[in-house]
Parts: sequence; C-alpha cells; structure tokens
Amino acid sequence: MILRTFVPDPDRVVLGPRPHGPLDLWELWSIGGVRAAEPGGAETTHPRLLREASLFRSPASPTFPPTPQRRLWQPPGTRMDGDQKSVFAQEKQDFVQHFSQIVKILTEDGMGHPEVGDAIARLKELQAFFLVADDIMDASLTRRGQPCWYKKPGIGLDAINDAMLLEACIYRLLKHYCHRQPYYLNLIELFLQTTYQTEIGQTLDLTTAPQGKVDLTRFTEQRYKSIVKYKTAFYSFYLPFAAAMFMAGIDGEKEHTNAKSILLDMGEFFQIQDDYLDLFGDPSVTGKIGTDIQDNKCSWLVVKCLQLASSEQRKMLEENYGQKDPEKVAKVKELYEKLELTAHFTKFEEESYSRLMGLIEKHSSPLPPSIFLEMAKKIYKRQK
Ligand code: IPE
Ligand code: MN
Ligand code: MN
Repeated sequence: MILRTFVPDPDRVVLGPRPHGPLDLWELWSIGGVRAAEPGGAETTHPRLLREASLFRSPASPTFPPTPQRRLWQPPGTRMDGDQKSVFAQEKQDFVQHFSQIVKILTEDGMGHPEVGDAIARLKELQAFFLVADDIMDASLTRRGQPCWYKKPGIGLDAINDAMLLEACIYRLLKHYCHRQPYYLNLIELFLQTTYQTEIGQTLDLTTAPQGKVDLTRFTEQRYKSIVKYKTAFYSFYLPFAAAMFMAGIDGEKEHTNAKSILLDMGEFFQIQDDYLDLFGDPSVTGKIGTDIQDNKCSWLVVKCLQLASSEQRKMLEENYGQKDPEKVAKVKELYEKLELTAHFTKFEEESYSRLMGLIEKHSSPLPPSIFLEMAKKIYKRQK
C-alpha cells in the first residue's frame, strides 16, 4: 500500500544512474528454473547466476566464487564451445550438485533447531521468489508444467511466506559464499536495487490491470515499455551480467552502462515474447497456462491490437477483455488472429534481433560480444 502511494507515474519512470551492479540469487533458487521461458530453455534448470559464474570459472581451479583476478574474457570458450545440448546437460548436472550444497549450507545454521532444517528442506521444491509471488498475484495455475507453488496441496497463501523466505536466503547465500570478497557490498546493493526495480515493475503491472475495470486507454506503448523494463529486464538480464562483472572486478560506471544498454533491450524483447507465448505458446512446451487476457494485463498483444483495431473492433475488445469467461477470452483471441498478430510479432522479432545485433556491436566493450550473442541466441525464436 505504501509502495503504491509513491510509485512514480509509470509513463515517466526513468532509469536513474546505475548505483551498483546486481547478481541473481533468485536464480539460485530456481530449482525448477527461473521462468518457464528463461533464456536457455527448459534443458537448463541451471540458474543464470551459476551459468554466468561458470563463464569465468577456470577449469584448473573450479573455485566458486571466482576472484576478481579471473577476468570474464579469459576462460569462457571452455564452456560455450561445442554442442550446446551437452553444455546444458553439464550445467544441469552442475546445478543439481550445487543445489544440494546450497541446501546443506542453509540448514547448517539451524543445527540444534531441527525445525529450521525442515523449513529449508521444503524450499527444495520451490522456484524463484518473484515467481512464487507473481503466480499468486496473476492467479496462474501452472509453472514449469507443475501446479504453481501456492496451488500445491497444503501450501495456499503460506506461499507468501515462502517467497519471502526465498528472498532472505539470497542474502544468506551471498554472505556464505562472498562475504570476504571485495565485491560483496556491490552484490548486495545490486540485489537490493534490482529487487526494488522489479517490485516497482510488478506494481505498475498490477495497477495497470485492475480487476474488473477495463480501461483500454491505459494500454499505451510507453506504459508498456516502463512495465516490462522494470518487472523483467533488470532482474532477468542486467542482474546476472552485472553480478558476473562485479565478481570479475569490473565495476566501472561506464562498463555497466554499456552492458545495461544491451541487456535492457534484450529484456524488453524477452518479455514481449513472454506476452506472445502467454496466448499463442503451447502450454505443454511453455509449462504454463496463459492468463493475460483474463487478468486485464497490459500485454504486448493488446497494445498492438489497439494500434490496429477499427473502432468497432476496439468496442468488441472493451466488452470481452479482462474477464474469466472462456467465450470472451476466445473472442479476444479471434480478434488477435484476425489482425494477424502472429505475423506482426514475427516481424517485430526479426527487427528487434537486428537492432540487438547493432547494440551488441556498439556497446559490448569491454566484454566480448560473444557473451551477449550467446544470450541473444538462447532467446531468439524461442518457443518456451
Ligand atoms: C513476471 O511477469 C515478472 C516477474 C516475475 C517479476 P509475468 O507475470 O508476465 O510472467 P509469467 O508469464 O507469469 O512468467
Ligand atoms: Mn505471471
Ligand atoms: Mn505478472
């Protein structure tokens, strides 16, 4: 509630100067993965954090976390060469190993208090903390092909506590692994700042989609861009890169601004795909059933639809959007199909990809462009 009173006008949200960079331990918790549609796809249940960290983990010295002396561009080839599938399989195996270690660390502090151990063990089945909360707020049913955490028998709204517990675990793990490192404070500040940005984004997302109150004039391109930048791009893209940069000793404002200009664009594109897949994706592939139409969301599809619709079609949208009735949802989908939104999306995806290539060329320095290209490759034309 307090938050809502000071959230800035969504159409005027501007990104302030980057204070410090982020690392994504939400990702550490994505045992089932981050989002069903995370970069890297379902083959990798590996958190992005570990993936980034692995980029500069020397094979001869597999220490985690890396020391700042091991620069990003020294050993990356070792991981990304060769068949992508085997890389993913390897990552998955690494993650499973790391995850048992993580659970062990988190339970150790509870020695003498077996209940603490029980509470942590329960987290094993959980996904990242934002998503646990997001699924409650969006009244979603499934995630990664399983019932959402709050939908599991016996969980319900206890999931709110679990989401907060997951968040707290981020800082416990950061402390455990990094507290002696020179980049520790940067990482903490990065996580705190990114959490704030994401929560602002979620607030904009929710307040633009009030239940039972359809107001199509809210769905502007400008507002859309603010929502997705804040709710998705910072935490899914800038955070893991920035964390890896800090850990590699790259903490300059200019370097981070450069990386951010690529990654926020990639993040916006990623969320547009997410919106497209919400309706047109195959739930057996994405692992989640879309709810954007029912939830009155400011989705890329509805923004595009409004740009193309006749006044009659707009009226039709007004009557059917934001409601649970499956017939109404079907009517909205029909309208989208009539306006050939799939073709518009494909065109957008292609244009966006070339723009991204331009940004990488211009701003990747001092990081090797391959790091960004690998990420772009993972998300372009994704089905999940
Ligand atoms: C989720 O956005 C953003 C965060 C979790 C912060 P969506 O609500 O659009 O994502 P999905 O489709 O449920 O994964
Ligand atoms: Mn959602
Ligand atoms: Mn949401």
